[in-house]
Amino acid sequence: MIMLWAPPRRVNAVDFKIKAPYCFVTFPMANLAPSKHPFLAACRREPTSYTPVWLMRQAGRYMKEYRDLRAEHGFLDLCKKPELAAEITITPVEKLKVDAAILFADILLIIEPMGAGLEYSKGGGPVIHHPVRSGKDVDALRDFDVASELAYVYEAVKQICKELKGKVPLIGFAGAPFTLASYLIEGGGSRHYIHTKKLCYTAPEAWKRLMERIAKVTAEYLNCQIAAGAQVVQIFDSWAGCLSPMDYEQFVLPYTKMVIDALTPGTPVINFSTGTSGLLTQIRAAGGSVMGVDWRVNLDEAWSALGDDVAIQGNLDPVALLSSPKEIRSRVGDILNRAAGKPGHIFNLGHGVLPETPVDHVVTMVEAVHELSAR
Ligand code: CP3
Repeated sequence: MIMLWAPPRRVNAVDFKIKAPYCFVTFPMANLAPSKHPFLAACRREPTSYTPVWLMRQAGRYMKEYRDLRAEHGFLDLCKKPELAAEITITPVEKLKVDAAILFADILLIIEPMGAGLEYSKGGGPVIHHPVRSGKDVDALRDFDVASELAYVYEAVKQICKELKGKVPLIGFAGAPFTLASYLIEGGGSRHYIHTKKLCYTAPEAWKRLMERIAKVTAEYLNCQIAAGAQVVQIFDSWAGCLSPMDYEQFVLPYTKMVIDALTPGTPVINFSTGTSGLLTQIRAAGGSVMGVDWRVNLDEAWSALGDDVAIQGNLDPVALLSSPKEIRSRVGDILNRAAGKPGHIFNLGHGVLPETPVDHVVTMVEAVHELSAR
């Protein structure tokens, strides 16, 4: 059993002056109905009394608690044991006081039941043993029952929701079709996405079959997470930034849109990508109620390009967390100024927390967001 929301610490007069608005808005939060939570409100572009914040990869190797568990279990084992996945999900919520939890899992989990052979090598990143390189390989992928073969994920979602008791919302997630396809085709991480682009350019029919299959499985997978209790879902298109706008439009947009259009109505969807400042119009057209942007674009400029009728998430450079508390506060302030208190900003990094990040710097960031945005 993990304790959430310790009572407010006693503060002296000076401290209180600085932290008063934050204390005021934070501690009654546990009593709010889930739909009134600042994170959910911001997803819907409703005004909030401060800017909600969470971090991609908030559960991971930069935390001692995670490293200790990881010393005893393989990564896939952690994902497949709902009680451990729940513990890993909740620890950062408790430690960092973030406004949302993100399910502990991985975007590549659906690759295993597809029959492509997934392994997480120690330190070396994921390896896919049977990469997909042709139409024949696409057709050899296994059809599987998404509800039963990934049931361990939905079990973790249920357990997490039970333990969170509505104090913060839970974000479910999946990889976007392009990012997943790129892992399936390259067999792991990649620099130039040569095999992936080659399949698009030389075998567009095989590409279409692969993307349709991934889109169908992904939509079902996310809907099962929603049914189990995830209140928001994020789609990670981490590598979409390697594409030209024309290629994104032809080879990616229809399939990401297919996933988003098939999701349970009323669930906010965060459409996250990196390196896509030249693709904002196209990414927006793929759908989502919140657009995740990285630090390569100024938040205000990205928001103008995306339009006022969508929420935005981002966009501190994860490397900024390796600097000093003063520098972190200043950079948080800059992003908040660019958001200008407009409803619909969710503070986050522009990509995941790096393993070498000091935990106290993450706490500094979260506190700075809450304090500097209190209104
Ligand atoms: O955000 C969270 O805290 C929730 C958990 C989460 C993980 N992976 C856990 C994980 C999430 C949301 C992801 C998403 C993910 N996984 C993405 C999209 C986001 C991004 O970073 O671009 C991608 C591309 C992957 C694929 C993946 N999984 C890679 C490339 C690696 C190895 C290298 C790395 O970045 O860690 C993983 C393994 C992985 N996924 C770990 C964790 C905590 C580390 C595993 C370990 O303990 O060794």
